[in-house]
Amino acid sequence: MSSQDIPEENLPAEQAAHEGAHGAVSVADEKNPFADPGLPPHEHRIQDVDERAARRSERTVALLFTVSMLAAVAFIASYVAIPKDKAIYVFPLGHISALNFALGLTLGLALFCIGAGAVHWARTLMSDVEVADERHAIAADPDTRAKVHADFKLGAQESQLGRRKLIRTTMLGALTLVPLSGIVLLRDLGPLPGDKLRHTLWAKGKRLVNMNTNLPLRPEDVAVGSLTFAMPDGLKETDEDFQTEIAKAALMIVRLQPDNIKDKRELDWSHQGVVAYSKICTHVGCPISLYEQQTHHVLCPCHQSTFDLSDGARVIFGPAGHALPQLRIGVDSEGYLQALGDFEEPVGPAFWERG
Ligand code: FES
Repeated sequence: MSSQDIPEENLPAEQAAHEGAHGAVSVADEKNPFADPGLPPHEHRIQDVDERAARRSERTVALLFTVSMLAAVAFIASYVAIPKDKAIYVFPLGHISALNFALGLTLGLALFCIGAGAVHWARTLMSDVEVADERHAIAADPDTRAKVHADFKLGAQESQLGRRKLIRTTMLGALTLVPLSGIVLLRDLGPLPGDKLRHTLWAKGKRLVNMNTNLPLRPEDVAVGSLTFAMPDGLKETDEDFQTEIAKAALMIVRLQPDNIKDKRELDWSHQGVVAYSKICTHVGCPISLYEQQTHHVLCPCHQSTFDLSDGARVIFGPAGHALPQLRIGVDSEGYLQALGDFEEPVGPAFWERG
């Protein structure tokens, strides 16, 4: 339906007022070679002339905002109800975290519906008048500011926010609930670590378990010249906090000739030449994995820090600032290697300077 087909008395007042603004403004001549074609003829929307169509658009916008609210509620419910470790199959993504999938889907839907509702509202119900504005100086004079103020008021009026109560209510609901989903995520910032960094799972009586075989270690299982990696008994790879705990508790075990141990405390904390040191480099925390059996040196592959395991694991080369922490070990009544306590200092990189 074109503007020519609609009697002027049926048009909204502001549109009727702008009818005369369309069409060519100037023609090209010698003085002004660039003609201003003006605005094309105005086409009225069906919602401008049919209140039933306007009501349909209003309901559509309200439906989108309502779906957004439901999606935001579903986001919060998913965050609370879906376990972190639950996986689902989604074609074509394969197996993915059910929680991440639900959070992404619901938050995406909530945001999309707010956007779609706002766009549909603007395209079908807000004022459809074309406006030509002249260029003006950057600094606004008082008259311009007053005009902007008046335009803003007019815009608020034309948006029909006061008249369309259903839209206003559902939009406010959607805009209130969606930010709530961000507030819920703040829960992941806590709790504070407290003194967790100072302690590991090692404790008096905790057996040393071979990380490759998952079997408790006896002193005779540690051959001279070999490097064995151990973790505390009871820690399983399927545990939710496995990575957090193993990052602090991982051990490397070597057997030395007791006569070759230069450091007295190291000798006292060993068992028949078997010594246990933190596997976490004191530079920036890489796992140490290279052992040179002739010199008893271990080398961190990240930045080549080198530690002497026959001399309290002191640093003999590289950027690491401290010796590797040693774990005091012994054997239990069944002959298995066990810890005689936790590490006496925090493991890992540069923590001592902070603590
Ligand atoms: S992390 Fe080991 S040397 Fe840098």
